[in-house]
This record gives sequence, structure tokens and C-alpha cells, in this order.
Amino acid sequence: MSTNTITTNQQMDHFSGHERIWVFGYGSLIYKADFPYIERRPARIRHWTRRFWQGSHDHRGTLDAPGRVVTLIPEPDAVCTGMAYLVIPQVLNHLDTREKNGYLRFVTDMHLDDGNVAEGLVYIATEDNAAFLGPAPEADIARQIAASSGPSGANRDYLTDLAAALRRLGANDPHVYAIEQHLRDLLQQEQAA
Ligand code: SIN
Repeated sequence: MSTNTITTNQQMDHFSGHERIWVFGYGSLIYKADFPYIERRPARIRHWTRRFWQGSHDHRGTLDAPGRVVTLIPEPDAVCTGMAYLVIPQVLNHLDTREKNGYLRFVTDMHLDDGNVAEGLVYIATEDNAAFLGPAPEADIARQIAASSGPSGANRDYLTDLAAALRRLGANDPHVYAIEQHLRDLLQQEQAA
């Protein structure tokens, strides 16, 4: 599969004719909303878990030295906390470009913090995309993140901004917090050396 998912995503017509669409963000979309939205709410989706298993060639790394960013991996009964945005359909053009390095639109139910359940979209990079890196020990993931940067900035900022945003949401995410702790340890070792 090509790493550029724009064409595939634009063929998805599940929400055609809708004037407003909910989009669930679980990575940078939680803390970096560089698009207009009508409403934004903390939300949760079920049966997916957040993992730093996707390579980033275009935002937090390069083709030769990819960074690591999050994607969602199916896991029965898992709950993933994130942020839901209500947007007009034109915003999807921007998001398709932003998420083009392997992420496909999926339809999901999201549980909003006001108690409502909305059907909407989530961008997920599945294991068959060319930029997928897969599992690695969390200490190794932290080392790769510490060493990577790309057009959107340092990979370490992606991690620390995401961990801070998850804490603000009260999310329980041992994977992200463990990698953040490994990064802190690495930076301390760097300073001490
Ligand atoms: C998301 O935030 O929902 C997708 C992954 C990312 O852009 O970090």
C-alpha cells in the first residue's frame, strides 16, 4: 500500500451529504487543532488502544530517519481517550493531507463527555501501511523519539505535548507515560554526560 492515503480517503463516502461530521483525535489532533471546528469535546472510543507504532516521514522525522507517532491498534474492551471535533466536510481535505502518511479514515462511535454517542471518523494507520514500524521496547521507542525531528518539529515535543494533553484529559495511558519517563531519563543522562 502507498504511504499517501489522500486518494483512498477522498473516495470514502460514508458521510457524504452530511453538513457536520465528528472527528475523533487521539494523537496530535488532541492538542494541535489547526482547523476550524464548531464544537470540541473530550471523548472515548472503545476496542482500540494507542501505540507509538507508526513511522513519521513527513511530520516528526524524515524518510531516512523516521520518527514515531501514535496509531490505534485493535484490542477488545480497550478504551481510548481523546478529543472529538465537530467540523464541516471541507475540513476533511485538510485532515486528509495532514494524516496522509499512512492514516485511513475509519467510522467509529465516540462517547462524548456530555453522555451522547456520536458516529464519526477517526484516522488510523493500520499495520499494512508502508510507514508502519510496529512494536518495540518502550525504552527503544523513547530513544528513537529523542533522536528524530521533521518538518513539524522535534519528535520529543510530539510525545511530551501528547502526554501533557492526556494528563489534562485524565486519561490512563501507561504506554505513553512510560515512553515519556524513558525520554526524561535519557535527557537527564544527556545533561549529566
Ligand atoms: C490523531 O491525532 O488522531 C492521529 C494521529 C496524529 O496525527 O498524531
